Amino acid sequence: MIESSEQRESGQDVSRRDFVRTGAVALGGLGAMMGVPSVWGSLRADDRIRVGLIGCGGRGTGAAAQALAADKGVILWALADAFQDRIDGCLGQLTAAADTGDGSVAAPEHAARVTVPKERQFSGIDCGEKLIAKGEVDVVLLCTPPHFRPMHLRAALEAGKHVFCEKPMAVDASGVRSVIESAKLARDRKLNLVSGFCWRYSSPERAVYGKILGGELGPVRSVHATYHTSPVWTRKRQPNWTEMEFQLRNWVHFLWLGGDHIVEQACHSIDKINWVMGNRKFARVTCLGGRDLREGEEFGNAYDHFSAIYEYEDGARAFLTCRQMNHCSNENKDWVACEGGHAFINGWAPPETKLTGRVNWSYSGPTPNMYQVEHDELFRAIRAGNVLNDGDFMGQSTLMAIAGREAAYSGQSLTFDQVYNSKQSLVPERYAMDASPPAPTVPFPGKYTFA
Ligand SMILES: NC(=O)c1ccc[n+]([C@@H]2O[C@H](COP(=O)([O-])OP(=O)(O)OC[C@H]3O[C@@H](n4cnc5c(N)ncnc54)[C@H](O)[C@@H]3O)[C@@H](O)[C@H]2O)c1
Repeated sequence: MIESSEQRESGQDVSRRDFVRTGAVALGGLGAMMGVPSVWGSLRADDRIRVGLIGCGGRGTGAAAQALAADKGVILWALADAFQDRIDGCLGQLTAAADTGDGSVAAPEHAARVTVPKERQFSGIDCGEKLIAKGEVDVVLLCTPPHFRPMHLRAALEAGKHVFCEKPMAVDASGVRSVIESAKLARDRKLNLVSGFCWRYSSPERAVYGKILGGELGPVRSVHATYHTSPVWTRKRQPNWTEMEFQLRNWVHFLWLGGDHIVEQACHSIDKINWVMGNRKFARVTCLGGRDLREGEEFGNAYDHFSAIYEYEDGARAFLTCRQMNHCSNENKDWVACEGGHAFINGWAPPETKLTGRVNWSYSGPTPNMYQVEHDELFRAIRAGNVLNDGDFMGQSTLMAIAGREAAYSGQSLTFDQVYNSKQSLVPERYAMDASPPAPTVPFPGKYTFA
C-alpha cells in the first residue's frame, strides 16, 4: 500500500527540512515560514521538530513518548493508524500526564507538546501515506505491523522526512530489497534513519560486542541465542469487522502482516547474531519449526517454535531457538564462543553480561533505557546536522530472520542469495478494509515450496 507524493518537494517542505538538518535558520524565520504560533513559551519557534507517528499501538505510543523526552523542541504533530480507536487510545495515554518513569507514557512536562487536532489525525489502511503527504512533519516514527514498513519507509524518505522505524523491516525478501534501496536513498539525501533494533542502542550490548568485535577473545566460532516467551495477545472477532479488520487487529499471528514470530520478535536475537558476526552474509540456513499449541482463528497461520542453524563460510555457526508457548520457561540470552574464551549476554539482567577466558570482564556501567537512547541519538543527530543510518544491518538482519522462517516452512536448507533473490511477495489483492487478505494457510515442511 502506500505511495503518495504530491507535496513532498514543495519549497516550504525543503526549507523546513534543511533547517532541521542544519539548525541554521535564523531566529523566528521558521516560525514565520510555518505560519503557526509556538505552542510552548520560552523556546524559539524555530527550535521545533514536528513528529508524526504511524501506527499508534503499544510500541508507537512508547516511541512517541521517547521522541518527546529526547528533545525539548519535539512536538507530536500528527498521528495515523488504521483505526481511530487506536489514535484515541494513544492520545489519551500521551496526554494523561501520568509518568510511570519507564518511558512508556509521556511525562507530564511533555504532554503539553502533544498537539494533534482532528485534521492531523489520519485513519484508514492508507493513513500512513496521508500523514506523510499532508501531515507537515519533519520526522516520522514507523510503528505499524511490519508488512507496511517498506512502503512507509520509502514514502517517508522520498518526502524528505527523517525516520525512526521499528523492527522488523519487512516480512518478505521483496520488502527487504526495497528497504535496502531506501537506506541508500536516506544516505544520498542525508536523512537520518534509525531502526528499532534496540539492542544496538543498549550500553551493555555495545560494550560486550565492542570487545568481541575488537578481537579481545579472538575470532567468533559459534553463537547460541534464545528468545523464549509466552504467546502475545489475540482479539476476538467482532460482528462489525471485515476479514481484513479481523486480521489487522490480530496482525502478529498472520504471516503476511507480521512475518511470523521468528521475524517479528526473535529478529532481535538474530540481529545480535548478525552484529557479532560482523554483519556478514551467512552461507546457509537450516531450520526446524512447527505449530503445536496454536488453536483458534485469531492465531492465524504463525508457528509457535523455531530452531535455526546459520552456517558461515569460515565454518562458524549460529544457533537460534525461539518459542511462544504458555507455561514454559522463558529467557532471552546469548552465548558467544570465541577461540580465546566465551561471552555471555543476558539482555534482561545486564550485570550478568561478561567475558571469560583470555579476558575476564563483566559489565558494570550504566544501563540507560535503550528505547530512549534510540531517540536521544536520532534527535541529537538531526539537531547537529549529522546523519545516522542503520541501513548496514537492519535489512540484512530482517532477511536472516525471513531465511530462517522459509527454511523451516519448506524443510530446505537455503543460502543467503537464494533468499535475498526470492520472488515471494506477501501482498493482498488490494489494500482496503473490504478486500480479501491472503488466506491463512499453515505451511507444512516438505509440502510448502520456497519460491
Ligand atoms: N523494539 C521492540 O522491542 C518492539 C517491541 C514491541 C513491538 N515492536 C514492533 O513495533 C511494531 C508495532 O508493534 P506494537 O506492539 O506496537 O503493535 P500494536 O498492534 O500495539 O500497534 C500496531 C498499530 O498499527 C496499526 N496499523 C495496522 N495497520 C496499519 C496501517 N496500514 N497503517 C497505520 N497503522 C496501522 C494497528 O491498528 C495498531 O494500532 C511491530 O513491528 C513490532 O514488531 C518492537
